[in-house]
Amino acid sequence: MTISTIERLNPFIPEVIEDPYKFYRRYRELDPVHWGLSANPRLSGSWYLFRYEDVVHVLESPKFGREAARVREDGEGAPVPAAYKGFRSMVSNWMVFRDPPDHTRLRSLVNKVFSPRMVENIRPAIFGIADSLLDRVQNRGAMDLVEDFAFPLPVMVIATLLGVDPQDRPMFREWALALQHASASRLTPSPEVYAQAEQATWGFIEYFKIAIAQRHLEPRQDLITALVKAQDEGNKLNDEEILATCIHLLTAGHETTINLIAKGMLALLRNPDALKLLRSHPELIAGAVEELIRYDSPVQMVTRWAFADVEIGGKVIQRGDSVGLVLGSANRDPARFVNPDVLDIQRQDCKHCGFGSGIHFCLGAALARAEAAIALNVLLNRLPEVRLLNEKVEWANNIVFHGPKHLRVGFRKVM
Ligand code: HEM
Repeated sequence: MTISTIERLNPFIPEVIEDPYKFYRRYRELDPVHWGLSANPRLSGSWYLFRYEDVVHVLESPKFGREAARVREDGEGAPVPAAYKGFRSMVSNWMVFRDPPDHTRLRSLVNKVFSPRMVENIRPAIFGIADSLLDRVQNRGAMDLVEDFAFPLPVMVIATLLGVDPQDRPMFREWALALQHASASRLTPSPEVYAQAEQATWGFIEYFKIAIAQRHLEPRQDLITALVKAQDEGNKLNDEEILATCIHLLTAGHETTINLIAKGMLALLRNPDALKLLRSHPELIAGAVEELIRYDSPVQMVTRWAFADVEIGGKVIQRGDSVGLVLGSANRDPARFVNPDVLDIQRQDCKHCGFGSGIHFCLGAALARAEAAIALNVLLNRLPEVRLLNEKVEWANNIVFHGPKHLRVGFRKVM
């Protein structure tokens, strides 16, 4: 197939979601700066970048950013109907959708609160949560790794950090999924999806409003108190921004980490040598987590708007164009990684871009790394003879937050 005949990629279809890597390889080799289909009918297309070098270049370049209104007369590429104002204005306060100077202000405050010490302090609680989840299933001999473990763990951790009740997690998940469908999937959401996101927004707002008001009166040792205090001291974030930040942290710290734990375990089960090595050398876990993020990235793609005409790989990306940065492909680029399709938990040079790069580099990376390391080691420690029950995996319909809907595993019962 030549470059002129390669078909326009639609990365949002089930065939790509089921096995993105064979598509990525083809485009990386034949048309690495590719004008593909956009899920947004108001756009005639979107660029997709597949090479590591190009992806990292754009992530770090001020010529690309998040706020469509700066370069597009139609404002958002995917406009949110006016009826869904609560959702629209709440999400516009998420740092991940802002450019400097607002991004800098929002991030610097949360950065202070979201410190390495905080991550260290929460480690014993993560162990406790992982153990308690396995206590519930250990005598069953089988479980859905997603529902029974990978989903509850990160949401309980982030709820504990924020200082809200981890038992409210079914509600958080329903709300977080509704927001994610409307904001991050890049599929043009239907009115129904927007209505659910609006409802979820108000659910979250009511919930966190009460929590924030309580912290003003009675400070505690938690993230919400830290955000409220920072506000009291410097008046840098207004109430709406604190609310949006709590919701952002709960949502961002959740679906991503589920997919890291679930896909991490899947990759290990499909690579028995790596699994064996990790079982006998649990101290390799930190490197293994990095490799698992590279090998099957939980966030497969992030997007930007071009703020200027920029030439990349001989193509001119024009001001106002949408650009999909395919992290999952960049992390399998043979120009950057030796034997990129091999899972090597002792890989020496594993500087992947699974957490992004530049000013939006994942704020929760240290927490996610700690959660995944603890979760995988506890799973391997406590589940003898763990194995996949279904070779064929059912994938959630999302290429951005990429992961299995369910992952049935069996193991020897421990009574
Ligand atoms: C940003 C991935 C876990 C909070 C990002 C970005 C990526 C990413 C790729 C960059 C987005 C962009 O450039 O457009 C991941 C992965 C995770 C994970 C793979 C787990 C395996 C977490 C956790 C939290 C978190 C646990 C917090 C509790 C954030 C926030 C941002 C972000 C707040 C926005 C940062 C900014 O705009 O400055 N993450 N993330 N993430 N992540 Fe994560």
